[in-house]
Amino acid sequence: MCGIVGYIGKEQAAPILLDGLDKLEYRGYDSAGIAVFDGETIQLAKARGRLKVLREMTHGGEMLPGTCGIGHTRWATHGIPSDTNAHPHFNGTESIAVVHNGIIENYLKIKKQLQEKGYEFVSETDTEVVAHLLDYYYKGNPLEAITRMMHRVEGSYALGIMFKEHPGKLYAVRKDSPLIVGRAQGGSLIASDVPAVLKYTRNVYFIQNEEIVCLEEDRLNFFNVDSDPIEKEPVTIQWDVSAAEKAGYEHFMLKEIYEQPKAVLDTLNPRIRDGKIEIEELGMTDEEIRSIRKIFIVACGSAYHTGVTAKYVFEGLARIPVEVDLASEFRYRNPILDEETMLIVVSQSGETADTLAALREAKMRGVRTLGIVNVVGSSIAREADNVMYTWAGPEIAVATTKAYSTQLIAEYLLAMKFAQVRGTVSQEEIDEMICDLKELPVHISMLLDHKEKLQRFANRYVAAKDIFFIGRGIDYAISLEGSLKLKEISYIHSEAYAAGELKHGTISLIEEGTLVAAVLTQEDLYKKMLSNVVEVKTRGAFLLAVTNAGNTEVEKAADYVIYIPKTNKYFTNSLAVIPLQLFGYYVALGKGCDVDKPRNLAKSVTVE
Ligand code: AGP
Repeated sequence: MCGIVGYIGKEQAAPILLDGLDKLEYRGYDSAGIAVFDGETIQLAKARGRLKVLREMTHGGEMLPGTCGIGHTRWATHGIPSDTNAHPHFNGTESIAVVHNGIIENYLKIKKQLQEKGYEFVSETDTEVVAHLLDYYYKGNPLEAITRMMHRVEGSYALGIMFKEHPGKLYAVRKDSPLIVGRAQGGSLIASDVPAVLKYTRNVYFIQNEEIVCLEEDRLNFFNVDSDPIEKEPVTIQWDVSAAEKAGYEHFMLKEIYEQPKAVLDTLNPRIRDGKIEIEELGMTDEEIRSIRKIFIVACGSAYHTGVTAKYVFEGLARIPVEVDLASEFRYRNPILDEETMLIVVSQSGETADTLAALREAKMRGVRTLGIVNVVGSSIAREADNVMYTWAGPEIAVATTKAYSTQLIAEYLLAMKFAQVRGTVSQEEIDEMICDLKELPVHISMLLDHKEKLQRFANRYVAAKDIFFIGRGIDYAISLEGSLKLKEISYIHSEAYAAGELKHGTISLIEEGTLVAAVLTQEDLYKKMLSNVVEVKTRGAFLLAVTNAGNTEVEKAADYVIYIPKTNKYFTNSLAVIPLQLFGYYVALGKGCDVDKPRNLAKSVTVE
């Protein structure tokens, strides 16, 4: 998704803007640009392609002198990737410059109205409408122009705005797209995300919806949509810059795969105290927990896959009906919700548009909502009634791994808490499961020690055309994630199937040598799975099996077996997913793909 940055202070702005955009590259983009006020005019440089193009074009920013500026990396939504459509965008007299992350949903209507008043547009973007609309409302007071613009536009925006007539000020405003402000020595910054400012400051303000900030070299002023001054408190960011860097790994994705033991521990530890499950942030009394009659788990992508697992865990332990929904489906299907329903939304970024919309839909209907979110202060984290943070730390690679693993932990803990309060499991069972949870980080580390074996096996499939993943129950959920990890970074076609479903169509695709990965961690389903394994084997498949240590029976049917340490049947996803993550990573690496920034994908999909 797009990234915005801005700086005002004593230093030259351009190098700081370029550096900030570097740190936002992970959001996915196709063009970039910066604008700097040089004391007389606002100088602009923008280009399609990677940031390198912009850096070379501006000689590292030297070509744009000045101490106030804004910058942008664009992930095209309205208008093709091009120099003209790249941000920043000007009004007609080039006295106002704007960068934008989000979508102005009524931009065509406003554009037409402005064109009828004589305004001329040069780009196909929705953002340019903001620049001209600000021009239309500007009568000398930037704040007035901004608030009037806010009352006209519909949709989502995080905006950085410069007014040539107010050189000592930089403005920013947000609605539904993330925006932070950093207060550094000798200046201040705006950005879409924390990594862009960490090099300069740890003092960060999270801008809430419809809040406006005016940055000056030595002060910050915050306002609401009525132009009333408001007070805001800074948050001190605990991350180190290194935490957002690769720490010596070749890719962020491999670094984050290896951070999983710690991420799981960090998510688990604060919620298990004296052998008890403590989830204060849930904000529910035991009575309220007992009053819940149905749970919806709603998310996208890998977060959705954790929800598929959580359904089995919640229904198995707490005996509560759970419906798992893709957020993009949930929000439009007029779901049946009532006061005894609870909605859990799961999101690493906390900014996924469909998931945020599903949350708002449920809140509008009076349903209790809980967010399982990784990014502190993100929109979903703030708008859910309660938020249970996953402590995975910054996840930069587009393909999620450690955030996925911590989402599973959060869901296991929730299911155990509900089961404990509702009396559907004994304290002895809870104690056993807590022991199993505490062993997961060690077991994950053991599996990570086999990466060379996985890499050798993966190298055999870099030329594969189709790879299938099959499983039953929780193993089906694991298959969904294994398949997505592979296809999203290696671009190899892959499908996950409920193993029993294969014979209803897809088995016709199995040819001699087709790789089928079968996940067999559910002991009560071993026999059924073995018959599915034989089905595909007899049609020529090469069978990779991921199964529990000790299940050597599988070796009679499978061509290659990966064993995972024994654990509670509800927690096997946390272990079986590790070799599948490594498999996807090494196939993509072997193909020379851009593992951290796969084509067409963005780390946070903040548009529909
Ligand atoms: C998973 O590897 C993908 N990056 C994608 O499916 C992701 O899980 C999905 O877009 C949801 O993102 P979120 O967790 O930030 O809401």
